[in-house]
Amino acid sequence: MITFENVTKVYQKDWVALQDITFFIEKGEFVFINGPTGAGKSTLLKLIYKDEEPTKGTIKVFDENLRFLKKKHIPRLRRKIGVIFQDFKLLQDRTLEENVAFALEVTDTSPRDLRKKMMGILTYLRLSHKKFSYPYQLSGGEQQKVAIARALVRDPYILLADEPTGNLDVKSSQEIIDILCDVNYKGTTVLMATHDLKLAKKVKKRMLVIENNKLVLDK
Ligand SMILES: Nc1ncnc2c1ncn2[C@@H]1O[C@H](COP(=O)(O)OP(=O)(O)O)[C@@H](O)[C@H]1O
Ligand SMILES: [Mg+2]
Repeated sequence: MITFENVTKVYQKDWVALQDITFFIEKGEFVFINGPTGAGKSTLLKLIYKDEEPTKGTIKVFDENLRFLKKKHIPRLRRKIGVIFQDFKLLQDRTLEENVAFALEVTDTSPRDLRKKMMGILTYLRLSHKKFSYPYQLSGGEQQKVAIARALVRDPYILLADEPTGNLDVKSSQEIIDILCDVNYKGTTVLMATHDLKLAKKVKKRMLVIENNKLVLDK
């Protein structure tokens, strides 16, 4: 589902973010990307949804070589990939419900199906009772769940989580991990970047460790 072959990413001014990275992730896997701050974890995730281009090497997602994916087809790639971030990135002037519905505006889902689907996901994440709340009225954990709902409503094949627990306490972090594991159990391929090795080790999943911009461990 995701292939990196000798991928190197150099930002401007010869700043190497990733060096000669090779790995393969199969459909349905759950993989932690672990390593200290600055190791290149976010860069790795950005390469998968073509937010950044590799300097060298080959990246294939859904059997498609991203180098040859035209700009106009990037939205097609991103529709199949959900992304969540440390800072949630919710629309502050919209309610929980509007934040989730917004993700479906660009698809051709009918309003009726949209509502049904959204309510299903909000119920699954136990957020229904907060659907009229604005982000500032929600806890960090709840805001991250809204971000997950927004990603899931589009039925992604891959869910990328970049330090999703970075702003959360231990209890909410565990809850988010449990949700990601459940989403994975239901068939979505999940990649979670975290610098928190202790947290990652609590769940027995594959781990790619990046140190000094190189892949040093895959177990
Ligand atoms: N847009 C950018 N321009 C220049 N350098 C960048 C950019 N994004 C990240 N970097 C650098 O690349 C390295 C890897 O960053 P990043 O992928 O964000 O690491 P991590 O997510 O593991 O903390 C860091 O040294 C960072 O400063
Ligand atoms: Mg990062």
